[in-house]
Amino acid sequence: MTNRLRVGIIGAGGIAKGVHLPAYQKCGEQVSVVAVADVVKENAQRLAEQYEVPHVFDSYEQMLAEVELDAVSVCVPNKFHAPAVIAALKQGCHVLCEKPPAMTPEEAEEMARVAKQTGKILTYGFHYRHSAEVEVLKRFIDAGELGDLYAARVHAIRRRGIPGWGVFTNKELQGGGPLIDIGVHMLDTALYLMGYPQPELVLGSTYQKLGNRKGVGLMGAWDWENYSIEDMAIGMIKFKNGATLTLETAFAANVEKDDVMQVTLMGDQGGADVFPLKIYQEKHGTLLDLNPAYLPSGSDHEREIGRFVEACLTGADALCTPEQGVIVQRIIHALYESARTGEAVKLKS
Ligand SMILES: NC(=O)c1ccc[n+]([C@@H]2O[C@H](COP(=O)([O-])OP(=O)(O)OC[C@H]3O[C@@H](n4cnc5c(N)ncnc54)[C@H](O)[C@@H]3O)[C@@H](O)[C@H]2O)c1
Repeated sequence: MTNRLRVGIIGAGGIAKGVHLPAYQKCGEQVSVVAVADVVKENAQRLAEQYEVPHVFDSYEQMLAEVELDAVSVCVPNKFHAPAVIAALKQGCHVLCEKPPAMTPEEAEEMARVAKQTGKILTYGFHYRHSAEVEVLKRFIDAGELGDLYAARVHAIRRRGIPGWGVFTNKELQGGGPLIDIGVHMLDTALYLMGYPQPELVLGSTYQKLGNRKGVGLMGAWDWENYSIEDMAIGMIKFKNGATLTLETAFAANVEKDDVMQVTLMGDQGGADVFPLKIYQEKHGTLLDLNPAYLPSGSDHEREIGRFVEACLTGADALCTPEQGVIVQRIIHALYESARTGEAVKLKS
């Protein structure tokens, strides 16, 4: 590989256009996006014209076979993550795959296995890990400022934020609703800050109460007649190390705020809310709230892509590992399974 990373994009929709292309472009001389593939060729064509990408395909298999690439961004609906990632890894590419890793734990395991076998980087688009708040809090946690983290609360709740574009309300293509789409972001953030503990017991409920009828849509008009996902998921996860995490996530719920993305952590030396960052401690007989007076600016997505590029070029670690992708996918699956059966799901090691 030369010092210039040759990147291909699989899927030319919202996240490719809004995040991946502009962020790769900001990496400057060290990156060239040289090919885009989308089953809807016009989407690929449009993106390629906007960003002066020379090669356009309507099949990623053809793109991988015909263009020499070092790395690939996978930006397709969830159902197509696993086949696209595996094909790209087998073709010798490093891969940044959008979240969630996959549709099922089995797919995530196979993706991790192929990454190991090929020796290529596989990382996932959990961009909140790259936020200034999370980066700062991680340093406090690593320095022992929160002590033993034994409880966490995760919220990813919109009042009326059912996506009116893409396939986000189609269970067959996405694997689920808010849990696998936005809940997974805050779940990953909490797990990352907690050191990715192994889950042991999972209890979940899902509800479809608002999305399957006509109503106010703050993120566009959605197809309520063919709405096949949950509006809301609630869960509780117990980990092998004794910690407990509770989770609430919704595309639509009768709550006050339009959109809340939050992780709260509680340890025996301190606690924290992450967005915005606030740390809670008891020191010298006083209860303290710590607020950062300064946080670095810049976009989480740009930091994520910058780190992926650096990992590809220098062999540095990517922040999110394929094994963590397997753990988060096992939790998501267990939450849906528990909701379906009404029973808690015990996970094997
Ligand atoms: N990190 C984030 O914050 C974030 C935000 C939005 C979306 N995403 C993720 O990105 C992925 C894509 O979401 P989006 O909003 O860009 O969706 P989108 O519907 O806007 O775009 C998806 C594109 O993929 C194309 N496509 C579908 N199947 C394909 C295939 N087999 N091969 C090639 N192209 C194919 C579609 O034609 C479409 O152009 C999803 O997994 C989603 O969860 C992540």
